[in-house]
Amino acid sequence: MSDQVKMTPVDYSADRGVAENPVKVMDLSLRDGHQSLFATRGRTEDMIPVAEMMDEVGFWAIETWGGATFDTMHRFLNEDPWERLRTLKRYIKKTPFSMLLRAQNLVGYRNYADDLAYAFVDRAAENGMDIFRTFDALNDYRNFETVVKQIKKSGKHFQGCICYTLTEPRLGGEVYNLKYYTDKAKALESMGADSICVKDMAGLLAPYDAYPLIKALKATVSVPIHLHSHFTSGMSPMTHLKAIEAGVDIIDTCMTPYAYRTSHAALEPMVMSLLGTNRDTGFDIQKLAAINVVLEKEILPKYKHLLDDSKVSIIDINVLLHQTPGGMLSNLVNQLREMDALDKIDEVYKELPKVRKDLGQIPLVTPTSQIVGVQTVNNVLHDTPDERYKMITSQVKDLCYGLYGKTAVPIDAELQKKALKGYPRGEVPITCRPAEVLEPELDKAKAEIGSLAVDMDDLILYAQFPVTGRKFLEWKYGKVEAPAAVKAITMKEVKAKDEIIKKAKAGELIEAKPETPEKTENIRSFNVFVDNEFFSVEVDPTGEMQAVAAPMSQPRAVAAAAPVAAVAPVAAAAPAPTPVDGTVLLAPMPGMIVSYAKKDGDTVKKGDSIVVLEAMKMENSLTAPCDGTVQGIKFVSGDTVAKGAVLCSIV
Ligand code: CO
Repeated sequence: MSDQVKMTPVDYSADRGVAENPVKVMDLSLRDGHQSLFATRGRTEDMIPVAEMMDEVGFWAIETWGGATFDTMHRFLNEDPWERLRTLKRYIKKTPFSMLLRAQNLVGYRNYADDLAYAFVDRAAENGMDIFRTFDALNDYRNFETVVKQIKKSGKHFQGCICYTLTEPRLGGEVYNLKYYTDKAKALESMGADSICVKDMAGLLAPYDAYPLIKALKATVSVPIHLHSHFTSGMSPMTHLKAIEAGVDIIDTCMTPYAYRTSHAALEPMVMSLLGTNRDTGFDIQKLAAINVVLEKEILPKYKHLLDDSKVSIIDINVLLHQTPGGMLSNLVNQLREMDALDKIDEVYKELPKVRKDLGQIPLVTPTSQIVGVQTVNNVLHDTPDERYKMITSQVKDLCYGLYGKTAVPIDAELQKKALKGYPRGEVPITCRPAEVLEPELDKAKAEIGSLAVDMDDLILYAQFPVTGRKFLEWKYGKVEAPAAVKAITMKEVKAKDEIIKKAKAGELIEAKPETPEKTENIRSFNVFVDNEFFSVEVDPTGEMQAVAAPMSQPRAVAAAAPVAAVAPVAAAAPAPTPVDGTVLLAPMPGMIVSYAKKDGDTVKKGDSIVVLEAMKMENSLTAPCDGTVQGIKFVSGDTVAKGAVLCSIV
């Protein structure tokens, strides 16, 4: 055994008392667990059955909120994110709550103004948040200043993160070496961090790098050190153990059904591994087993269809090969598939490190993983031999301007110049704290949304997500009926679907008959994978089970776990293009219309921005292909469009 972990007089009973230095554990099942495995689709009603049991385990904290939950809940689940916090607090009374806060990005994808950042943290604290795990994608702690002021003012726990990233296969090299991480830890401690988290979002931290890293951090700062490491590459259980041997204070795990794959190491093996040592968690394995039964039997069947079960392997070997986050890779795969370009994946792997280097060798974590990922796909699909970076996303332009903060190394000067040509804020990048150039946003948001935002919580939601936030508030206050796609799947539907699979396996599936009743708009479609065959099954909740399509000739390579597109009825709902005059502007990818900068009848010059299209959470400004007059705009803000949809024509 190592110098840090030793056996103590052995007592394996549930009430075996407290070890000398127990490893503290934060559970992630209710946030990062389902975010990693089930595209963040976990519903509050499915957390309640285990909430009180989880409160009895003895976790240091339970992560319940933040990250992608805020976005996904209002966008895809028709759930008020604030309400989840208040509801879970009624069931989990003893264990502190933790949230993942993207610093000045809050729970969105860009830096927000200070007034919104103060208001968000204040309201999160008021609604029940205890621990604010805060990170900045660039590790630029100037982006912490505002939120930390408010976390402290609210009397809450400020956990500062260091995003763990590499440029080499192992810790070290020019940029991300041991000194980089100890310097960051010192900076966090001097900002008043109550604990420091090594955030290994991609599962890149190798066990024998974790050991010296945790040792060095423990020797450098006095606050507790917390390790967050994703399983993706398969290394994290080993990494946890070496971190424990090096004296890490807190680790993150998931309950077994929410563990592994792109999620986290499971709790239960860790509890048993440490049993009887001076770092024994003290947890009762029987209690954990009881929670697992509820999750397995009553909850997870409703989410199984979201699990990417296209591969037998639970380890993403690509992470070991490419050092890119697993979530980012699956986003890239989904994006390429939507654009019928999956065959370009190897080019994407080759282009990605180049784009990252051009953009200042930044860590890859939300939102920088999306920024680098989408730009990489854009380059692979749209660049020509004589022009690189032909289609630059708004977010890359913002990054080049300095709006996300300081990059680890300078951005490629040529790219920066190209990206900032005609950039609305100016062509000279800033060097100050990004939020200093942002105008206050709350009053403007209030003026836009008016009385549809009833309180500050509504307003904050709208301010961060103007398009989907407005839609959600319309559902919430009964102005518009929520579509079937955002409704929960019931166990009854799950059982009906399982029946279909059984029949498919028995070869009893039949083609749809001509007398099949009309489909209603409540129809839900499921992708069902049986062995190597893929069935598209539609379930209409108001009627009988019906309409079974023949197996598709080309089985899909990846299951329907697309984090963004799977649930929204995107492409199928788009109208077929109608013949138009002039030069048409086509949607180069499926996405959602954010806004039109022009209206019918406006005259435009070639290169003028016409419409902003959001795809994979990145905004793309689409420009006029020629001079002329805009005609034939058929979409409005919030509409989803298919690839190739006619966005307008120029005559
Ligand atoms: Co994570």
